Amino acid sequence: MNADQLSATSARAIGLDVDALTVRGGKPLDGRIEMKGAKNLVTKAMVAALLADTPSELRSVPEISDVRVVRGLLEIHGVAVETLGDTMRLDPANVERAHETSINAHAGSSRIPILFCGPLLHRLGEAFIPDLGGCHIGDRPIDYHLEVLRNFGAVVDKLPTGIRMTAPDGLHGAKVRLPYPSVGATEQVLLTATRAKGRTELSNAAVEPEILDLIAILQKMGAEIQVDTDRTIRIEGVDHLVGYSHTALFDRNEAASWACAALATGGDIFVGGARQQEMTTFLNVYRKVGGAFEIEDDGIRFWHPGGDLKPVVVETDVHPGFMTDWQQPLVVALAKAKGISIVHETVYEQRFGFTEALVDMGATIQIHTECLGSHACRFGQRNYQHSAVIAGPVSLRGADIVVPDLRGGFSHLVAALTAEGESRISNVGIIARGYERFIEKLQVLGADFDVDG
Ligand code: EPU
Repeated sequence: MNADQLSATSARAIGLDVDALTVRGGKPLDGRIEMKGAKNLVTKAMVAALLADTPSELRSVPEISDVRVVRGLLEIHGVAVETLGDTMRLDPANVERAHETSINAHAGSSRIPILFCGPLLHRLGEAFIPDLGGCHIGDRPIDYHLEVLRNFGAVVDKLPTGIRMTAPDGLHGAKVRLPYPSVGATEQVLLTATRAKGRTELSNAAVEPEILDLIAILQKMGAEIQVDTDRTIRIEGVDHLVGYSHTALFDRNEAASWACAALATGGDIFVGGARQQEMTTFLNVYRKVGGAFEIEDDGIRFWHPGGDLKPVVVETDVHPGFMTDWQQPLVVALAKAKGISIVHETVYEQRFGFTEALVDMGATIQIHTECLGSHACRFGQRNYQHSAVIAGPVSLRGADIVVPDLRGGFSHLVAALTAEGESRISNVGIIARGYERFIEKLQVLGADFDVDG
């Protein structure tokens, strides 16, 4: 890609209005890229600003479309949002009701609107959320969220256009046990309980690093939150919260994706801003597969040290397990490993759709309904195709691919970069939901591609 194409517009560099890429594979990715704040923290931190009486400042905000969606939703609710570089200032002084039509303009674009409910109920006594979006990687129900909100005293009305909620008697603390340690439902409890009257006890909570960073933000705001060793979170509700000043935790999912890209392409990538502590589980697997890494103070270098990659058995799980968002780019590297690898997906029931395109490119991957890991998960008896057997090594060949979802799409990009010949990848705008400036990063790393259209 030449410099003229790149500088066309910043939106284009971010990848927001790019529809398709033509990728010529076979070139190792080599160079240094920087991580910003995690998509799965930043968007929630932006919602938390709604709970305060005074402005908040969030640093290391990535330019991704999920951030744009949440910003739009905050603005139509009266939050003044300004950005200077990667710092965002959010002033909630004039929070107000938004018109349903403006809210619905955001329908289908993200799952974050469900997290507006608690803060809006506190601020306005009512909330309306549109039909949700996010990646199509399973049913992605919101039953835990609605149950949580009802426990706090919300009255939930499902309408054809979305969900309306009111809290006629205000929100009060509750005792909640999640059926599964859901990240979003845990965040729902945190964002609702901090300003609810009285005490909340949440058991079977998720404790992903992004959640702990959200707790750190809420603590800065004046919340009282305690995380016990058995994944119980206790929250003492307070009447007022103040704005926060915070640098967001780096995006470990993005870091893991580029690490896999280095491995699969036989390259060498320094991921600036990546930290060991939040990635230890990933690093263990990376080493087992035969990848090399070096931890520095300002990031992690990932590379293919030569020789054969080795097969592994991996099960995705809640933290501190192997994240479900890490398996898709890893599968591309496993297609190149010598032997049989197994990936048992236990978080989402339908997260192997992306492997069809890899098979078209020459990968040998079979998907099974049985639990092929060391423990039976909740999908085993329910006929979900949730275990993958990958036989390698294979050489991938270029193909025409339509990106299905965020992580699957990135794995397709990696596959195209390793493949012999040319691939045309369309619908790449989805990748911009969670990978900041991925087109620029590809260029920095020396990928051979053109932006189409
Ligand atoms: N679940 C329910 N009912 C609910 C909520 C969740 O059954 O009301 C189920 C889900 O269907 C899934 C499991 O619980 O099988 C776990 O879902 P969870 O609620 O933990 O996921 P989430 O909050 O919707 C976040 C990330 C995902 C990440 C998961 C797991 C955001 C915006 N999304 O989703 O990230 O995979 O946690 O860590 O934070 C991505 O970044 O590509 C992505 C999908």
